[in-house]
Amino acid sequence: MTVRVGVIGGGQLARMMIAPAVELGIDLRVLAEEEGMSAQLAATAVGDYRDLETVRAFAKDVDVVTFDHEHVPQEVLRALVAEGVQVHPGPDALQFAQDKLVMRARLTELGVPQPDWAAVRDIDELQRFIDDHGGGAVVKTPRGGYDGKGVRVVHTGAEVADWFTGLADGDALLVEELVSFTRELAQQVARRPSGDIVTYPVVETVQRDGVCAEVIAPAPDAGARLTAMAEQIGRTIAEGVGVTGMLAVELFETDDQRILVNELAMRPHNSGHWSQDGAVTGQFEQHLRAVADLPLGHTGARSPWTVMVNILGGPADGGLEGRFAQAMVEHPEAKIHTYGKAPRPGRKVGHVNVTGDDLDDVVYVARAAAAHFL
Ligand SMILES: Nc1ncnc2c1ncn2[C@@H]1O[C@H](COP(=O)(O)OP(=O)(O)OP(=O)(O)O)[C@@H](O)[C@H]1O
Ligand SMILES: [Mg+2]
Repeated sequence: MTVRVGVIGGGQLARMMIAPAVELGIDLRVLAEEEGMSAQLAATAVGDYRDLETVRAFAKDVDVVTFDHEHVPQEVLRALVAEGVQVHPGPDALQFAQDKLVMRARLTELGVPQPDWAAVRDIDELQRFIDDHGGGAVVKTPRGGYDGKGVRVVHTGAEVADWFTGLADGDALLVEELVSFTRELAQQVARRPSGDIVTYPVVETVQRDGVCAEVIAPAPDAGARLTAMAEQIGRTIAEGVGVTGMLAVELFETDDQRILVNELAMRPHNSGHWSQDGAVTGQFEQHLRAVADLPLGHTGARSPWTVMVNILGGPADGGLEGRFAQAMVEHPEAKIHTYGKAPRPGRKVGHVNVTGDDLDDVVYVARAAAAHFL
């Protein structure tokens, strides 16, 4: 029988599930926020994901519900689960990707290495943390942040006075030590409801202005020790929070050879886009397999190196379409992925994957191909 998977959210992550769903014979349905979203092709409904009636009506015609983003409220998810709907990842797991304070507390319980952190309710509490941590820290809004929005490096508590003013009673901000990392990594994991787990090669991610710009798979110079540590952290978290589907663990590597967890995403993630063209099983296919409780696919790389370069912003003079022909002529080996989104400064509108044997060549081609769209 055809499995019907319902994705809440119509962004590029839902869009990139469409092709693998077709291949697997999965009937993919999307609840989009509005008309004209990235995943329009599979959108069977348009509505507010915060409204229980809307989500309930969408869930009625699918076998399993999953997500393009982490913002569906806990009350909505718990109501669905109580009514017998299969939701993957479920609300018990998803809470750790929805709220960074809840995540930090759980990772502490799990004994996973992470930056020093605290929940702070006012400027004085924050200032004490800053003073205890060398005069600098990173403050984060626990909920709703993305692409570096909701993250500020501060040296005095007063620098986030506006965030404290906006806090509801009883709420707090997350403060973390300012980690002087040598680079950022990401570990992808997939877990089925039945418990099977697979892990991907650990990758290096490069952020610019708080936004993912490039990914190199596998992470260069990742020795056996680093690879094993990242994999172990990924498995510990996936099992410890009971995630189902794809999990991305963002990591910092420090100059004293430690790795610390930055944050979690429970869905396909930008750091895993390389796997579409660089791994035996891409993360979008893997997510569908996992949430539908099908056997998981092999996660090995198809090629020594894969580099992913994001297309950020897009051409100032219109859509990406006008740039295609030239990019294709000059870089036939580049795999170009577009999201059907209008260009806007800093916006993720597509990405390019390139694979090959020589890392310098692969980086060069991926950057050159992506640059056609700027
Ligand atoms: N404690 C820290 N120390 C140093 N740098 C940090 C710290 N926390 C975050 N950063 C930097 O800020 C970036 C964004 O932080 P974070 O991943 O928490 O935010 P986000 O907006 O939720 O991210 P995303 O774009 O992944 O949704 C990180 O990738 C890292 O470069
Ligand atoms: Mg992040």
